[in-house]
Amino acid sequence: EYLNEPLRPQFHFSPEINWMNDPNGLVFHDGEYHLFFQYNPAGNSWGHMSWGHAVSRDLVHWQHLPLAIPESDGIMAFSGCCVVDHKNTSGLGIGDKPPMVAIYTGHGHGKQVQEIAFSNDNGRTWTKYEGNPVLDLNESDFRDPKVFWHEPTKRWIMVVSLANQKVLIFYASSDLKHWQELSRFGPAGFPSKPNWECPDLFELPVEGTDGKKLWVLEADMGSGSVAGGSGGEYFVGHFDGVSFHPIQDAQWVDYGRDFYAPVSWSDIPDQDGRRIWIGWFNNWETCLIPTFPWRSCMSVPRVLSLRSLQGSNESSPQRYVLVQRPVDELTKLRMKSITLPTTGAAWPPKTVTQVNEVPTMCFELESTLVVGTARSCGFRIRTGSDEYAEVGYDSETQSVYVDRRHSGNVSFHPAFAGRHDAPTRVVDGQVRLHVLVDRSCIEVFINDGEAVISDRIFPTSQQPSIEVFAGDATASVSDTKVHLLDSIWK
Ligand code: FRU
Repeated sequence: EYLNEPLRPQFHFSPEINWMNDPNGLVFHDGEYHLFFQYNPAGNSWGHMSWGHAVSRDLVHWQHLPLAIPESDGIMAFSGCCVVDHKNTSGLGIGDKPPMVAIYTGHGHGKQVQEIAFSNDNGRTWTKYEGNPVLDLNESDFRDPKVFWHEPTKRWIMVVSLANQKVLIFYASSDLKHWQELSRFGPAGFPSKPNWECPDLFELPVEGTDGKKLWVLEADMGSGSVAGGSGGEYFVGHFDGVSFHPIQDAQWVDYGRDFYAPVSWSDIPDQDGRRIWIGWFNNWETCLIPTFPWRSCMSVPRVLSLRSLQGSNESSPQRYVLVQRPVDELTKLRMKSITLPTTGAAWPPKTVTQVNEVPTMCFELESTLVVGTARSCGFRIRTGSDEYAEVGYDSETQSVYVDRRHSGNVSFHPAFAGRHDAPTRVVDGQVRLHVLVDRSCIEVFINDGEAVISDRIFPTSQQPSIEVFAGDATASVSDTKVHLLDSIWK
């Protein structure tokens, strides 16, 4: 059967074979969502970086396509973006049909420069622009351009990283070929070894307001992130067409260890209006994961918005948080939904359902934890003999966590086993969880997306059972639904 290995994600994108890292060039065009990605056509570890390619019509099912942009002349094609040049500002189109233009980093000969390539056949074949590079500062760490059309100033805007300075540069262009510097941002954010990569910048609606919008600037650090190793941070503020002005401190994008370099789709039609992104479901520190003949997968596509959280006192003032939710399209994979009875306390954990009838081993869990005074409560999933991944709420640390110390194969890297906590608001004594479980990944969306924990797991157990636990009789798990999910690979 196709892509059916025991650890092969069944509803998260992965390449058929070989190494993948960052998502690149996400763009919607002519009814297709394009997903390009950092890809090694020659092996199962990092190298010969090129752009792999897949397309989808529904953000759920993906079709693998041939390599899009190869390494050539000793220059690798590093991360970048893709736009549809509707007005043919670049002159790279043919006739009335707008070209797709990829803007990416050329890495080689001791430096990193920005290059472009174009396609006039819906991304099936690409030509590198003969005038490359389009931006060269003679820098060794200058990468990962993200470009968008800025309607108020009617020009292209690029945000790109001076990676080892933790500085982002904003540029403007009228034709995607000539770029003029506008401003710089950083160093800023959480203290870490200077390193920013894969920035993104976009405007988002604030939930529950009448059209209020704010800008989000996101960037990723290779090491030193919240759960250890690599991860992303974001700033909420204003972008005036020239520079970015944050209105509050940096916040973490994801509290797990495995969500890196997220970027959002360009050109989602206005009638849709969503801002959707996807991230690399991995961490540079522990990326040599025990899978073969492919390595790594993407997160599910997530819809973004901002939520205003009212602070309870002066030391926690009002702030805006980034909200991430799985795209609604994923609900089409639900084959069967089971409602679990409200379950009171249990120690030791008790099995509440054995989802053996789901051959994919994939499910979603929607539940409300009524936290009581118990030290902790929650779920154990993918249980086996002495094996489980725990998703719970800990009242002492006031956090939802994923504990993967006993989740199966944890020995392939010393930093892999661990517990990852997301600070969590308890609202009316309750915490809401939406957990996506694939064969080797867990994504936990807390309180309708206001915090997320993304973690890989490598279970040896082939039992998809779910257990509920609570430290004492005051806690319970209620309104629990389990949705058994189909595979996208068939
Ligand atoms: C981030 C990154 C990017 C770079 C790419 C190379 O994960 O280091 O900065 O463009 O990967 O594969």
